[in-house]
Amino acid sequence: MDVKTAIETRRAYRSLKKMEITQDIIDTLGNAASLAPSCFNYQPWRFIFVYEERLLKHLFTALTSSNQTWATKASMIIVAFAKKEDDCIIDRDEYNREYYLFDIGQAVSYLVLQATELELVAHPIAGYNPNLVHEILSIPTNYNVITLIIVGKKNSNLEFLSDKQRKTEIERPARLPINKIVFHNRFMEN
Ligand SMILES: Cc1cc2nc3c(=O)[nH]c(=O)nc-3n(C[C@H](O)[C@H](O)[C@H](O)COP(=O)(O)O)c2cc1C
Repeated sequence: MDVKTAIETRRAYRSLKKMEITQDIIDTLGNAASLAPSCFNYQPWRFIFVYEERLLKHLFTALTSSNQTWATKASMIIVAFAKKEDDCIIDRDEYNREYYLFDIGQAVSYLVLQATELELVAHPIAGYNPNLVHEILSIPTNYNVITLIIVGKKNSNLEFLSDKQRKTEIERPARLPINKIVFHNRFMEN
């Protein structure tokens, strides 16, 4: 699959069905994430691939109730976490730039696109209780749990989704017009 196709194929689907998680899948996704660029090659990203049934069920309890309606069909949750001290902090001017969030975001994108090529759904979420995630997975408190990536196979049966969820399953949520986000040569108020 070429990059353009992977970008266009990737969706935050919610209709999932169970699949087998193999060492090969974990290696392929972990390797893709590790090849992302980072400031000074600091690689602040850390990932826990949670697929053991008992732990996965426990992790489901940390999801918000609206995410529990669909994400509990996941076969794996990848927990992405990082701490700011592990990456560039540039504060020599009036702008304080902490790059760990930017860099883990890039690594997550690589992982998600790689998952797309493997014909997997990899749906990042922010709706979870981070304290519970820390506790369940024994993640030290100085790390920030940035996202949980819900992994499964796409299910064509949409009956367990809400009307709103069903709509976005079929139709990609609208994007801003390109002229709102892309400028030529100089910033323009629009
Ligand atoms: C940081 C982040 C947090 C998100 N949190 C949630 C979430 O808690 N629950 C959910 O159902 N989707 C969540 N999403 C998915 C977005 O709603 C989805 O990416 C967006 O609507 C665009 O749809 P698309 O990815 O299919 O193009 C999140 C996505 C990102 C990147």
